[in-house]
Amino acid sequence: MTRRLLVTSALPYANGPIHLGHLVEYIQTDIWVRFQRARGHDCRYVCADDAHGTAIMLKAEANGISSEAQIANVKADHERDFAGFNIQFDNYHSTHSPENAELSSLIYTRLRDGVAGSTSALQQGQHIATRSITQLFDPEKKLFLADRFIKGECPKCAAVDQYGDACEVCSATYSPTELKNPRSTISGATPIEKDSLHYFFQLPHFEAMLREWTRSGSLQTEVANKLAEWFESGLADWDISRDAPYFGFEIPDAPGKYFYVWLDAPIGYMASFKNLCARTPELDFDDYWREGSDTELYHFIGKDIVYFHALFWPAMLDGAGFRKPSGVFAHGFLTVNGQKMSKSRGTFIQAQTYLQHLNPEYLRYYFAAKLSGRVEDIDLNLEDFTQRVNSDLVGKVVNIASRCAGFIAKRFNNQLSADCAEPELLAEAIAAGDSIAAHFEAREFGRAVREIMALADRANQYIDEKKPWALAKIDGKDAEVHAVCSVGLNLFRQLMTYLAPILPAMAEQSAAFLNVADLGWERRRELLLGHEIAAFSPLMTRVDATHVAAMVEASQDSLSAAGAAAVAGQAATKATQPKAADSKASPTETISIDDFAKIDLRVAKILSADHVDGADKLLRLQVDAGGETRQVFAGIKAAYPDPSVLVGRHAVLVANLAPRKMKFGLSEGMLLAAGPGGADIYLLSPDDGAQAGMQVK
Ligand code: MSP
Ligand code: ZN
Repeated sequence: MTRRLLVTSALPYANGPIHLGHLVEYIQTDIWVRFQRARGHDCRYVCADDAHGTAIMLKAEANGISSEAQIANVKADHERDFAGFNIQFDNYHSTHSPENAELSSLIYTRLRDGVAGSTSALQQGQHIATRSITQLFDPEKKLFLADRFIKGECPKCAAVDQYGDACEVCSATYSPTELKNPRSTISGATPIEKDSLHYFFQLPHFEAMLREWTRSGSLQTEVANKLAEWFESGLADWDISRDAPYFGFEIPDAPGKYFYVWLDAPIGYMASFKNLCARTPELDFDDYWREGSDTELYHFIGKDIVYFHALFWPAMLDGAGFRKPSGVFAHGFLTVNGQKMSKSRGTFIQAQTYLQHLNPEYLRYYFAAKLSGRVEDIDLNLEDFTQRVNSDLVGKVVNIASRCAGFIAKRFNNQLSADCAEPELLAEAIAAGDSIAAHFEAREFGRAVREIMALADRANQYIDEKKPWALAKIDGKDAEVHAVCSVGLNLFRQLMTYLAPILPAMAEQSAAFLNVADLGWERRRELLLGHEIAAFSPLMTRVDATHVAAMVEASQDSLSAAGAAAVAGQAATKATQPKAADSKASPTETISIDDFAKIDLRVAKILSADHVDGADKLLRLQVDAGGETRQVFAGIKAAYPDPSVLVGRHAVLVANLAPRKMKFGLSEGMLLAAGPGGADIYLLSPDDGAQAGMQVK
């Protein structure tokens, strides 16, 4: 049965360039979409720039151009970057579009007045309320200030230069009106308090519907659990209006009030699709969006925007009489070399910078190898990246083709043999396609890759055993050389069929080399027998580590890099001086192997990592030490200001350290880390493959 699917990725903001973090999502979605298409389904993939909001308005002002010019420039850059990574959208639109204006106003008026003709109580109800709220206002810019545009002194610890919502020094949270000596970060003026009428979407009306939808299988378990927590703490009305000046859509019948950017952003998914329908005769907009539609709708998003997609968005759709998503698929965040992307370390890498140095398919492959259906962060370890791409793609996959192609060209006039010498080997590779497909479908790309590479190992093993290069030197072994190389290339064809969603460019080149029209999933069942192939050209070259280094260097923010180096240098001198003195006084003491054996070091998986109320330096971690969960307090907060990046990582635990009672609770172990301290602390991680509970020796 042909399925009809509509798939989206989150709409990137129109105020900055695409970076490798974003690409986790667009590559993940594109692989899934290409897989669906290869399976013969009708799968449409739309996206757009998220063009509205204060940040974009101010960015345009800073650039001395209109908001319209700002978003047009960024949209062109985004489209260039996505094309560079072979992201194949059916449509790339903008939320600042006539379709989006119309749909936003339609959805809003339906939420306000009810859906005409509907018999559902929810859809007849009215879900927009208004009330006056007090906010800080910049009297110079004549602008209400969102929390991140206000700075001042922390009301708790008096730290200077803190944002309007929370203190980075003591972690206190507060409202911006509590800040001491507040100032607008836009003009520097002292803000005043001012009232204004706001419009609210009454989310609590939808609680019962959302609770049911949450259980319908549309969400990953982790996301459903998160939602359960949110229901527990209670849903609240959502403020959907902003006062002029604002770059966005004016609210119908409310002059001077604009839709908050997050109101019209998801509607941008519909708008982009509507725009696609206008130029695609076989597509009918209502067919995809009406309640009860039999098409499938999937949103790929990052874990930071789950609230918008799993609560507000289905409620808006339902209240306005549209269908709800069939699935919302959240992924984790990207870290580079185990840490948050950082300009000073050169790991905040823009799409363009990457493309200037490296082949986009390397990254598509590496991300695929690391992605799962869960909401886990994924790490781009640049050494592992180089090694993995070289050993898997170049060393295993391309190697099969390059070892066989020469003989077929030189000796057999590009003609594959008429029958298959190893029907069982090929049957096995073909059969594997079913479980590989199941992994792709479940977004378990890492598992799919592992299975594909196991097949590649089998194929190489076969060629190694048969040694066509040795046979070729023996008279009368021609037929055998022909048979072995033909089997090799048929196996290569199976592998490229499975890798095609991940490596579209290499797949296209391979299809041309194999002289097949396409690498559709089902076509793999027909073997290439007595078939003429084309000339072989190298399909992929090895990752050159010097190019990786050059990319990191090009990504390094020179000012902050110099700063970081200076700080590191100071720390190094401080650390080495006393040590040198010590070592003169007493030679380094040694310990016996028995002493070392007393320390029970174990691999631990970090299950959660949170700030500790009232602690400046500590994080509270829950770790899985292999079947038992331990609580550990670690003084690494400055190095990991967003502790969520640690969740899912493996680290090394001193498991038999005597538990220590602290002000905040019991600490049951210690995690190993390197570095002088402060923000310069690096948690030690085992290589991929280490499991929680493993002994460290
Ligand atoms: N404009 C909103 C989305 C609106 S959707 C109706 C937005 N834009 S964004 O540019 O900040 O992010 C776009 C997507 O990229 C989001 O899904 C976000 O989670 C993802 N990522 C941004 N940085 C990321 C990483 N460092 N790692 C992984 N994904 C990241 O949010
Ligand atoms: Zn503080």
